[in-house]
Amino acid sequence: MVPRAPRAAVDVQTPQASAAPASPERQPCMTVVQLEAWFGKSYALHGVSLTIPDREITAIIGPSGCGKSTFLRCLNRLHETVPGARVRGRVLLGDRDIYAPGVDPIGVRKHVGMVFQRPTPFPTMSIRDNVAAGLRVSDTRYTRAQIDEIVVHALQRAALWDEVSNRLRSSALALSGGQQQRLCIARALANDPDVLLLDEPTASLDPLSTRKVEELLYELKQELTVVIVTHNMQQAARVSDQTAFFLSGDLIEVAPTATLFTSPADPRTEAYITGRFG
Ligand SMILES: Nc1ncnc2c1ncn2[C@@H]1O[C@H](COP(=O)(O)OP(=O)(O)O)[C@@H](O)[C@H]1O
Ligand SMILES: [Mg+2]
Repeated sequence: MVPRAPRAAVDVQTPQASAAPASPERQPCMTVVQLEAWFGKSYALHGVSLTIPDREITAIIGPSGCGKSTFLRCLNRLHETVPGARVRGRVLLGDRDIYAPGVDPIGVRKHVGMVFQRPTPFPTMSIRDNVAAGLRVSDTRYTRAQIDEIVVHALQRAALWDEVSNRLRSSALALSGGQQQRLCIARALANDPDVLLLDEPTASLDPLSTRKVEELLYELKQELTVVIVTHNMQQAARVSDQTAFFLSGDLIEVAPTATLFTSPADPRTEAYITGRFG
């Protein structure tokens, strides 16, 4: 669905390279134009425009309540599932507006997967069935063997396979918090999404589990686009290629991550990253 441009020939591990903007010939994965969002009469997003580069990691930072989760939930049409919630503006995936009339939100969520702050495994299901449960809509077209294959591949991509390959039938609740979160990532990957949205995915994890998830994101971005909300600025600096700073429903500034953290253009960004408010 999203056109695949050739990967940029840069070593993304060097700070200089991660500071470099997306190569100009690469297509944006998502393009957000004047996005507004409401909860009933409450105006949560005030016209946000942002380009999300293909196969890079975009971090969303900002103080609690500034609209980070709302923004993320507008990128896969989850926002509208809240009663009274409303969206205006355009969100393109590739060149297709996910809010155009006739677009099926379930189909959108297959292409734009999401993982939440707290690991949310289905408690009564096995590890295998948790991953298989991620397969949306026409699950029935898969044979059992095909589902098994998808499950193995998703667990491998989520860097969890080695830890669970001998206990796929065990309850997902037997896993540690960090493993459960990678299980949820595997569940999202089962659909082979173009984009993975992560809302504070490591907020409930210990430092070692956090590091595993961060390393995993680095692997995943070779193949897909990641948008991560984090209240942890060090994490944004470690993992992302570009960072967007939100404040009170406005996008204040978006820049290559190294630029945003070393020479922010807006005094409000500077105040936030230096811990002077928020
Ligand atoms: N379900 C909801 N109903 C009404 N207001 C909400 C709901 N969820 C969030 N809000 C409000 O929308 C604003 C943005 O919230 P949110 O996107 O969750 O912020 P963040 O993720 O940056 O902490 C806040 O003022 C919050 O109180
Ligand atoms: Mg939030």
